[in-house]
Amino acid sequence: MIKQAIIPLAGLGTRLLPLTSVFAKELLPINGKPGIEYILDECIEAGIKEIVFIISKKKEMIKNYFNNDKFYKDIIKKKKDPRIIKEYKKILKYKKIIKFVYQNKPLGTGDAVLKTKNYIKDKYFLMLLPDDLIIKYNCSKSMIDVHKRYNSSVMASMTVNKKTISRWGVYKLIKKLDKKNFLINDVIEKPSLNKAPSNKAVIGRYILPKKIFSKLQKLTPGKGGEIHITDAIQLLINENEKFIAHNFSGKYLDCGSMQGYIKSNFEISKL
Ligand code: UTP
Repeated sequence: MIKQAIIPLAGLGTRLLPLTSVFAKELLPINGKPGIEYILDECIEAGIKEIVFIISKKKEMIKNYFNNDKFYKDIIKKKKDPRIIKEYKKILKYKKIIKFVYQNKPLGTGDAVLKTKNYIKDKYFLMLLPDDLIIKYNCSKSMIDVHKRYNSSVMASMTVNKKTISRWGVYKLIKKLDKKNFLINDVIEKPSLNKAPSNKAVIGRYILPKKIFSKLQKLTPGKGGEIHITDAIQLLINENEKFIAHNFSGKYLDCGSMQGYIKSNFEISKL
C-alpha cells in the first residue's frame, strides 16, 4: 500500500517572478483556493496518510500557513464566523498529516527528494510536483491502482507537442501493458528534438521505490547543473527496476508559468 507522499516545494519559481520574489507560488489562489490544497486533496482522496513537504527557509510562508493556530483561535473567539471556523478545521485536517523537511539550496528535484530519506517507511512512496495540477480525475489514485496491479514504479505520462520537447523528461516506451500503461526503458531529462526518444513526457506524479535514495546519493549534477530525479530513475531502469508510464485521464494544468497559472484559474472556475 502507498501511504506516504512527498511534495518538493523548495524551488525558486523564477517563471512566476516578480510574484515569487516575496510569495510562495504554491499558496497563490487558483479560483480562490491555494494551489497546494488541490494537491493535498488529491493525496487524501487517494488514501495517503502522511505527506512530507520539502521547503526552504525562503518558503517558510508555507509552514506558517498550516501552523497559525493562535491567530485562528483568537479570531474565532472574537468573531465566531462559521466560514472562518470551517476554513480553520480544513487547515487542521491538513496539518495533522504534514511533516516539513528543508532543502536550503535548490540543487534540483533529485536533491529535494533525497532530503526525505529518513522519513520514508514503506517500499514505495508517491511524489507530486505541485506545479502540475490534474483535474477531473484523481491521477494519484489511478497510479496507486496501477502500482497494485503491476507491483512496479509508475510515472504519469502525457503526449506533448514536439516543439516543446526540451522542457520535459521524455520516455522511450518498450511495451504496451494495457490501454493506458506502458513499460519504459529510457527516460531523458530535457532532450533536444533530435535526441528525444518519443513525444511522451513525464508529468509531476511518480510512484518511486525507496531504493531510489541510494541512487540519488551517488548522482552528480546533470542538465542545467541540477540533480534530476529522472537521472536516478534511469539508473534504476538500468538495473531492471520496472517503471510504468501511465497515460492519465483528466486534464493537465501547468501552474508554474504565468500563462498556465491564468489558464488554470479559468479551467477550474468552469468545473
Ligand atoms: P521546477 O524547476 O519546475 O520549478 O521544479 P521551480 O524551480 O520552482 O520554478 P522555476 O522553474 O524557477 O520557475 C519542480 C518542482 O520541484 C521543486 C519546485 O519547488 C517545484 O515544485 N524543486 C525544484 C525543489 O523542491 N527543489 C529544487 O532544487 C528544485
